Amino acid sequence: MIALCDGIEIAYDDVGSGPPIAFIHGFPHNRSLWSPQLGALVDRARCIAPDLRGFGESSRHGPYTIDQYADDVAMLLEELDIEHAVVVGLSMGGYVAFALWRRHRALVRALVLADTRAGADTDDGRDKRRALIDVARTRGSDAVAAAQIVGMIGKTTRDKRPALIDDVHRMLARANVDGIVGALEAMMARIDSTPTLATIDVPTLVIVGDEDVLTPKSESQILHDAIRGSKLEVIEHAGHVSNMERPAAFNHVLSEFIASLDYS
Ligand code: MLT
Repeated sequence: MIALCDGIEIAYDDVGSGPPIAFIHGFPHNRSLWSPQLGALVDRARCIAPDLRGFGESSRHGPYTIDQYADDVAMLLEELDIEHAVVVGLSMGGYVAFALWRRHRALVRALVLADTRAGADTDDGRDKRRALIDVARTRGSDAVAAAQIVGMIGKTTRDKRPALIDDVHRMLARANVDGIVGALEAMMARIDSTPTLATIDVPTLVIVGDEDVLTPKSESQILHDAIRGSKLEVIEHAGHVSNMERPAAFNHVLSEFIASLDYS
């Protein structure tokens, strides 16, 4: 489906019924990242999964900032008459979830922060993003996908489920260069969300794959320590895309969390 949000086309899935959950993908993903969750939760929740602008079937118009991505998600939820949603963000989607919390707090019923971090980019991290922008512009999205896939999948999945590497690689390679460059610039410019953590007063679940090398467990521990009352779940034998690598384990902790929320 496509919604027009402030003149921008945002493509999204909207399946199931029950408490609304908004799923926000990472970089350079698209909403298909969340297929294993939508399939499993459809009987229990209304699952909304947008393509962030520049990705999937959404419009490629800028500006590209983390705040703009958050505003797009907020506009989509408002368009769909959703007053509050559980916001699930993976990696860059987590950066967007922090911005949603800062800018559209009333929309956020609860947070699920998967394989993400609070801190801004380091100087070294920004240099790496500039190099990747150069790769995107000179060699295209396939080369970006080849560079990103290396850290994206955990060791166990690489050894035991090599077919998943091809699936994830295909998803990454579908990203277009405008969206890739826009997201890299957005992430380079993002603010440090560490001070935000102490302001979070909605139920929060932090999830991380124990083989995540891009946003390692230590980053999730920082989130868990700083967000009052949060829960930390470590998915064993999963890397950065823990929701795809161990979907049953991920869906189990997510479902338990949703069931624990009071909707009376
Ligand atoms: C992601 O998966 O969204 C990226 O690893 C986030 C990042 O590069 O900071």
